[in-house]
Amino acid sequence: MEIKEQLYEGKAKKVFATDDPDLCVVSYKDDATAFNGKKKGTIVGKGVVNNRMSNFMFKMLEENGIHTHYVEELNDRDTVVKKVEIVPLEVIVRNRAAGSFSKKYGVPEGSDLASPILEFDYKSDPLDDPLVNNYHILALGLATQEEIDTIASMALKIDQLMIDFFKKCNVELVDFKLEFGRFHGEIVLADEISPDTCRFWDLDTHEKLDKDRFRRDMGGVEEAYAEMMKRIGLA
Ligand code: TMP
Repeated sequence: MEIKEQLYEGKAKKVFATDDPDLCVVSYKDDATAFNGKKKGTIVGKGVVNNRMSNFMFKMLEENGIHTHYVEELNDRDTVVKKVEIVPLEVIVRNRAAGSFSKKYGVPEGSDLASPILEFDYKSDPLDDPLVNNYHILALGLATQEEIDTIASMALKIDQLMIDFFKKCNVELVDFKLEFGRFHGEIVLADEISPDTCRFWDLDTHEKLDKDRFRRDMGGVEEAYAEMMKRIGLA
């Protein structure tokens, strides 16, 4: 397989074409942003952590029946994935109150939730990713009802698999964001699963082991990413 021209540069990754029309290569950067790009910085080594951790998680999910875009890890930062059409939704699952949920609904961070929350945001930086419901998604033509149903059931299954996995690493999965893509008519899990896209708290101390340390200027950012690599057995 030959790597060809750059197709796209996002906030945390670049995507390259290949000589196979069904495949592309994602290359993870150390660039970090928050608040839809308004805050910018670098987290040294983040690209390596996010690439390796995402691939590890995608493999675990595949073993449990979740179809993903993952094909092959090329090196520490670059991975071959299926060339999908991204569904323009940020699919968020929350197991404990935190972040924008706590702010919007006035629920203190760390509060228990009676049941998991599945949230859809319309993926649009200029609009600040507004919350959308089933009706918005259909009216705006972002996905079909069948796709929404598939995405919802996959997201909740992924939640359960990830809660169980991270518990064994002494980590609580507070919430996370997923993106899905269309590949030859099938919905598959795409994008990444990493400390950029999940809230990870130490099970005992509730210490934050994710990108909130960068978003909130807490320090110890690189150390938190490295700790997560250790916890999952990749370092
Ligand atoms: P939120 O509480 O800020 O809405 O974030 C919910 C989860 O989604 C959290 O685990 C971080 C993740 N997330 C992203 O991956 N990308 C984003 O742009 C935002 C805002 C959150």
